[in-house]
Amino acid sequence: MSRLLLVSNRLPVTVKAEKEHVSVVRSAGGLATGLSGPHERSGGLWIGWPGDVSRLSSPQRAEVESQLAALRCVPLYLSPSEVARFYEGYSNRVLWPLCHYLLDRMPRHHRDWDAYAKANERFAELVARHYQPGDTIWVHDYQLMLVPGLLRERLPEARIGYFHHIPFPSSEIFQTLPHREKLLRGLLGADVVGFHTPGYAYHFSSALLRVLGLETDMDHVTHEGRIVRLGSFPMGIDAESFERLAHDPGVLGEVSVIQERSDGQRLLLGIDRLDYTKGIPRRLLAVQRLLEREPAWRGRLRLVQVAVPSRTQVEDYAAYRDKVDELVGRINGQYGTVHNVPVHYLYRSFNERQLVGLYRAADVMLVTPIRDGMNLVAKEFCAARPDEDGVLILSEFAGAATELRDAVIVNPYDIDGMADAIEHALEMPVEERRRRMRALRAQVKSRDVHWWVSHFLDTLQSVPQRSTKPGAA
Ligand code: F6P
Repeated sequence: MSRLLLVSNRLPVTVKAEKEHVSVVRSAGGLATGLSGPHERSGGLWIGWPGDVSRLSSPQRAEVESQLAALRCVPLYLSPSEVARFYEGYSNRVLWPLCHYLLDRMPRHHRDWDAYAKANERFAELVARHYQPGDTIWVHDYQLMLVPGLLRERLPEARIGYFHHIPFPSSEIFQTLPHREKLLRGLLGADVVGFHTPGYAYHFSSALLRVLGLETDMDHVTHEGRIVRLGSFPMGIDAESFERLAHDPGVLGEVSVIQERSDGQRLLLGIDRLDYTKGIPRRLLAVQRLLEREPAWRGRLRLVQVAVPSRTQVEDYAAYRDKVDELVGRINGQYGTVHNVPVHYLYRSFNERQLVGLYRAADVMLVTPIRDGMNLVAKEFCAARPDEDGVLILSEFAGAATELRDAVIVNPYDIDGMADAIEHALEMPVEERRRRMRALRAQVKSRDVHWWVSHFLDTLQSVPQRSTKPGAA
């Protein structure tokens, strides 16, 4: 197995500082779990930003570095200006809304492009410094779209993969970007460019044709004498670990407490990062519509909505939070009683055990983003239901909808349709719930994160490499 160099904007760790003591804790996320095996077995490295460490003293920083080294992680420190311009600026104010079809949220001037390009250079430099012949490099996500091309210039013979974790929009949308050509050429530095769904891969191919005049031949394109494979690799989760937690006696105890205290009310659940792509206001409006239309449901259901704080320095996220706060207040003011409220809103993060407790207690899980690359919450919910109960309501605009066809699929722009779907889910007979959940679980368990990693890496290994040695074909 060749050594794996993983490259992502964030390292899969959290640096915790309490007084003089600092510790580096491995993240529990799907990417970290799926890649930890190949990363360790191959003796590889993970290169990325460890988060804001600017407040740490020099000895604390040295301690962080030694703990990172023990985890085979190589830190790339972003300066405050890089955080503001590369991460919050071009990545999250331009590329994020663009890829989610939200052109109106993009700034009129893309002043942070140069910071994005420079930060991508820094990542490529650091990777090239650690590269040894024979290594496989896997670059992750939209913050680093130029990195494959920058690496190709430095390491013509390297095996390089890139995976895009968010939607790749229609070429009509992508074409609006002034730096479209540079970004596409950046991605073409890879040997394999992967997406969650065939639709995103198709959009990428049509952007190549319309912007660069490059034609895709089935699943590949030939660029500067190299073959670049394009494909769909739907990301999965660590299903086994969610299932294990769902059987844990402590978690089951928590489920009983949630159910007892629900006082007979049916439980709807939403779990999202607080991001304007997640469709929380429309979901709230659908619950409101149901209560307005069907007085019989008043007092008989509640939505527990967990909103995990995210990208709080970006203005649109703060404004979105205000909008959600206001809507929750309005609905609770209108339909709450002195005994209960229809929306139980929690603005904080939860650990995996707490999440699984909520997943197992829910009658209906609402995953209704207006656009989402994949959405792993939908998959986590299914993995956490070994009781084969619970109904998943899923937006047709989440990548997961291409795989999870046994969910109740909804259009989040149709509030009445969503209200109908919630009522349908609440009234669904037990046999239908079981049939659907059994099929969903089979899908989530067979296409887990380990399958995703092997599928991508096997494809990357199969791409013929161009040798630059003299005399080679
Ligand atoms: O979905 C894209 C993604 O970048 C994930 O990889 C990440 O977990 C999430 O968005 C939050 O991103 P961040 O907090 O690093 O901006």
